[in-house]
Amino acid sequence: MKFFGTMEARNNELYIGGVGVGSLREKFGTPLYIIDEESFKEKVQIFIDNFKSDKFETRVIYASKAFTNLYMVNLVAELGLYLDVVSGGELYTALKGGMASERIYYHGNNKLYDELEFAISDAVGTIVVDNEYEYRLISKIANRDQVRISILLRVNPGIEAKTHKYIQTAKHDSKFGMSIFNEKTKELIEKMNADKCIDFRGIHCHIGSQIFDEKFFFAAAQAMIQFAYDIETKLNLDIKEINLGGGFGVYYTEKDEPFNLPEFLQKYIRLIEEKLSALAFNVEIISIEPGRSLINNAGSTIYTIGGIKETITGLQYLFVDGGMTDNPRHALYQAAYEAGIANKINDELVQEYTVSGKLCETGDILIKNVMLPEASPGDILVIPSTGSYNYSMSSNYNGMKKPAVVFVKNGECQLAVKRESYDDLIRNDVARK
Ligand code: LLP
Repeated sequence: MKFFGTMEARNNELYIGGVGVGSLREKFGTPLYIIDEESFKEKVQIFIDNFKSDKFETRVIYASKAFTNLYMVNLVAELGLYLDVVSGGELYTALKGGMASERIYYHGNNKLYDELEFAISDAVGTIVVDNEYEYRLISKIANRDQVRISILLRVNPGIEAKTHKYIQTAKHDSKFGMSIFNEKTKELIEKMNADKCIDFRGIHCHIGSQIFDEKFFFAAAQAMIQFAYDIETKLNLDIKEINLGGGFGVYYTEKDEPFNLPEFLQKYIRLIEEKLSALAFNVEIISIEPGRSLINNAGSTIYTIGGIKETITGLQYLFVDGGMTDNPRHALYQAAYEAGIANKINDELVQEYTVSGKLCETGDILIKNVMLPEASPGDILVIPSTGSYNYSMSSNYNGMKKPAVVFVKNGECQLAVKRESYDDLIRNDVARK
């Protein structure tokens, strides 16, 4: 198991943020999401320090869908990031968490009328429009309220990035955005630009997630800049911002080869600068929207090991007290993870296990094959690199209470999300009369 951030072994026990994982279990129970605050901050700094240019302003927008709650929003705001939200719910969390509304980008392919009203009444900085119907809804509300809304249009540059097909988002048949190859896209831009209630500021794309080959990002950036230039010159309008989305791949297992981030980000910036200068084209702001690459490796999940069972075929199942309800990524994307036994962190790896949860589903698998020390009931299983798309995708299936989230740093811990209670599970139920 690869160690990230402040992870270290002390007396054969895993410590994160200077706090023993055993003491975290005692205090908060399991399953438990643990976030290493320093590790997250370091990643943020890498993005801020390396995605910068003296030719244009750069913005790093944290994609809150990866992992969000009040504590996280507060931290993100303090670190000077912008924030991407995709629903009224994420917007609500962002505002309650103290994010300035003008620093919020509101995404989504089917924003609802009441969500748009909410965003507009709270003066969200930028709405990223997905399609013509949505533009008409925005225009209607803006007209009624006599306000001017800053928008970007999400476009699809038609880049088929190599990643799991469920997280590719810029194939020609993707549900997101409007194709740059479609005349209707230009017509919509013209329409929006002519609308007094709309401040049409530019374009956005996001080509997918967990992508390791830089050529896809570079191809998308070049296509976006070219398209922006074409519309600026042909439609006689002013493109102020190009937002290139997120999607930078991260380490889960040895099979993943993430970018050297400083090198990659500097190269990315140079490529953008070169393309702009080749066209003698100026834009004010270039932004990116990392989610996973900021938070994933800062998060770990701990579980208490229960039964260990050998099938007649010789498969060793190791059962934990959570499962696909706190991490559905193996079930959804066949995602792979590493693991360790936190209270035997330096012991020799002697046995291959299949880590499975407690849900009534054969697909309730967290890790297919992992070498671990000899495990016993009561041991603490730790799965690192679960900071993104775990807590945010958790569910109550089978009556599971969502786990707690705790942040650790400098030997201290702070609860950020309480573990759900049984009462939480029936909070919205209405008893039969
Ligand atoms: N911007 C937009 C518009 C997005 O849709 C996304 C992710 C991001 C930024 C951030 O992408 P990231 O840097 O995190 O790759 N549940 C899936 C991932 C879905 C990603 C959806 N969009 C998973 O667990 O792999």
